[in-house]
Amino acid sequence: MILKQSKLIKTMNVDTVNKYKDVLSREFEYLRISVTDRCNYRCSYCMPSEIFNKDYSYIKQSKILSYEEIIQITTILKKIGLKKIRITGGEPLLRKNIDKLIYKLKNEVGIKDVSMTTNGSLLTDKKLNELKASGLDSVTLSLDTLHYDKTAQINGTKKTFDLDKVLEGIEKYFNIVKTNTVVIKSINDEEVLDIIDKMIGITSEVRFIEYMDVGESNNWNLDKVVPSSQLLKLIISRYNLSLIETNKSSTAQKWSIDNTNTSVGFISSITEPFCNGCNRARLSVDGKLYTCLFATEGHDLKKIIRAGASGQDVLDYFYNIWSKRSDRYSELRFINKIDSPKVEMSYIGG
Ligand code: GTP
Ligand code: 5AD
Ligand code: SF4
Ligand code: SF4
Repeated sequence: MILKQSKLIKTMNVDTVNKYKDVLSREFEYLRISVTDRCNYRCSYCMPSEIFNKDYSYIKQSKILSYEEIIQITTILKKIGLKKIRITGGEPLLRKNIDKLIYKLKNEVGIKDVSMTTNGSLLTDKKLNELKASGLDSVTLSLDTLHYDKTAQINGTKKTFDLDKVLEGIEKYFNIVKTNTVVIKSINDEEVLDIIDKMIGITSEVRFIEYMDVGESNNWNLDKVVPSSQLLKLIISRYNLSLIETNKSSTAQKWSIDNTNTSVGFISSITEPFCNGCNRARLSVDGKLYTCLFATEGHDLKKIIRAGASGQDVLDYFYNIWSKRSDRYSELRFINKIDSPKVEMSYIGG
């Protein structure tokens, strides 16, 4: 079977795309790349400070995938339909010259959509300008609270930045500001309407994310989750919303707020899982390939790259993984028990 697939690709015109389907007929299209497992924040839901302290072992420099290796891998995966890349981490702006990587992904590899998710703390006007010049298509800003004391509590940082300036900057360079709020019961759920009020007037997509059980460090439990349906009810009490049609692979259900340039999105991995359209693979900071955010094991793509694999070898390797993929963790969360520890979000790339 693998051999057959290889032959098919070899005989294809370079511009032809042969998409790979998994066991559930989901086509691979989207790669989320963690460019660093480090972050200058310590969000309680992602890198709690008790665990990610000075004794924590981050991935060593020599094991981190280089930009050349990322370009090599994405060039190969483009041949089988890769059209979207999200640069994540950790905090991706901590990685040096990230704009150079983005430039190459856009201009050499030719990826249609390259986006980044960031905590915004390093987003100066100069940085935004560089990112725009590199060809980056959009920036998503994590925004859990509008209050200084809560930032310390949720995001584990005492540093603040001028939020208005960052919002204005993202809108100026990228036309639209996408925000992510991880909603945690009794911590920031009361801020949902305030956050929307703040974003109205800006061209924006304000997304509320159900707190997820990613990794093993965040002490997650179901009681801390606020179902999106509850937030929707609350928002409808103040605003008129119209449902926006999204494609099957979208993580968010989206609503536009009538007579504004703002929409709200709900990412409801706990109460309304979206595995059936999951077109995403993830590349960890040390070059392992994961086919689910909640995976326990990855596939060592870096190892085969560093051993001198050809493009065809990489495609065969990838085909072997994707064609056997049956992940749907969120749909089975409360049914299946998994025995091994899940990998951490900062390492796998959200
Ligand atoms: P777009 O597809 O470009 O809209 O990006 P996104 O919204 O998926 O990316 P972002 O990095 O902003 O992530 C938003 C939230 O969705 C984060 O909490 C991610 O962890 C979560 N997320 C992204 N992809 C998946 C996925 O495949 N499964 C689950 N369960 N959550 C995901
Ligand atoms: N649950 C939900 N979202 C999370 N993120 C990080 N950890 C979690 C979690 N446990 C979000 C961040 C960031 C995005 C990449 O993932 O807030 O915006
Ligand atoms: Fe850092 Fe983002 Fe994780 Fe917060 S969610 S610790 S900002 S990587
Ligand atoms: Fe995809 Fe896994 Fe998320 Fe489901 S839980 S949408 S399979 S990454």
